[in-house]
Amino acid sequence: MLARCSLSLFLLALVTSLAPLCSAADIDQEGLPDTGLNTSTWITGQLPSLDDIWDLNDIQIAAKNVLRPRYYASYRTAALDEITYQANLNIWSQIRLNGYSFRNVSDINTRTEILGYNFTMPFFIAPAAQAGHANRSAELSLASAAGKAGILYVPSISSTKSIEEIAAAGLSNQTMFHQEYIWSNQSRVSDELQRMEQAGFKAIFLTVDNTGVNGIRTRSLRYTGAQDETGHDASFDLNSLAGFRNLTTLPIVPKGIKTWQDAKTCLDLGFPAIYVSNHGGRVLDTAPTAVEVLLDIRKNAPEVFDKMEVYADGGVRRGTDVIKLLALGARAVGLGRTPMFANIWGEEGVTHMIQLLSTELQTSMQLMGANDVSQINSTYINTKLVESMWLQ
Ligand SMILES: Cc1cc2nc3c(=O)[nH]c(=O)nc-3n(C[C@H](O)[C@H](O)[C@H](O)COP(=O)(O)O)c2cc1C
Repeated sequence: MLARCSLSLFLLALVTSLAPLCSAADIDQEGLPDTGLNTSTWITGQLPSLDDIWDLNDIQIAAKNVLRPRYYASYRTAALDEITYQANLNIWSQIRLNGYSFRNVSDINTRTEILGYNFTMPFFIAPAAQAGHANRSAELSLASAAGKAGILYVPSISSTKSIEEIAAAGLSNQTMFHQEYIWSNQSRVSDELQRMEQAGFKAIFLTVDNTGVNGIRTRSLRYTGAQDETGHDASFDLNSLAGFRNLTTLPIVPKGIKTWQDAKTCLDLGFPAIYVSNHGGRVLDTAPTAVEVLLDIRKNAPEVFDKMEVYADGGVRRGTDVIKLLALGARAVGLGRTPMFANIWGEEGVTHMIQLLSTELQTSMQLMGANDVSQINSTYINTKLVESMWLQ
């Protein structure tokens, strides 16, 4: 009797001492849509099974469970009160999708061309710095997952891996573009552009929305303690933009366009494409969402959509979000945070993410009566609410 009692006490003490090591995950889900994700079987700090992951928001919660808080904060953070970050996520609920019946939707085509290159999906992996915080394979798993799925990947110039390492991780026939910043150090710019060209990247996304400074990102500042020096050129103006084009033969796409006026300027300067983005809410807080900017361009400079390609991003988490940006005139749509979060599982996680979003996109197209992405236009959406509130 005594022996059994002391065995029970021993087991109780063992369970109590292990409890902090393997506690069920109790995760603040940050007001993301409640689709019934149950994390009670997850262990804090451990990678959950991909079988538990049914949508892109689940991926974010899984990353929050696994990443060190400072790294989760560095990916998740946005500027000031994160009003634009939240607006990016919430704008979708203010647009209605029109679904048409009596159409043959037995064969759904999501293939599209971006700058003349073929891709299986109209969404791509946007540039995001430091993939190495989520996985040791860093950008290499993003490149190979994108290549195998046939989607575009655009690595950041602030990547963990080098330009050449990322290029080598792609498939032999894979098309990738590369992002560049406007460094004050001009020889660095020329050198990097040359390396990108030599490594086989086919176009440059030139980020123009944080010249000189980054947004003040309080959530990550709490860990880093100081605002990083960007090394970006604060004097970069229209003349510099025009001059930049002499540094490479690759097509250049200005990224971070937030007004119809800048979109028009890029058209007048003869750029082949623009990238409408508020940098995931990480630069100018209270800047408009891509939805609002695309509506403004449609109203004030509609020729932009006829004469150049337009890409857009910010808060895209669902196939229906992709469709709404396409319907507003975007040719392709970027994802920033989610692929970084999905990389906690490495390539397998990124592939899972691409599959989830592809399935949502195809399913929603079928339900809308649209069998080809090229057919998705403004007849599929009702944007009256957004227009009444925000149109310039
Ligand atoms: C962790 C992180 C790092 C980023 N780094 C870059 C970068 O180096 N260059 C750049 O042009 N944009 C960068 N972005 C912005 C993304 O390209 C993209 O515009 C934005 O994340 C899209 O919003 P989403 O995260 O809601 O999908 C970064 C975004 C995140 C979240």
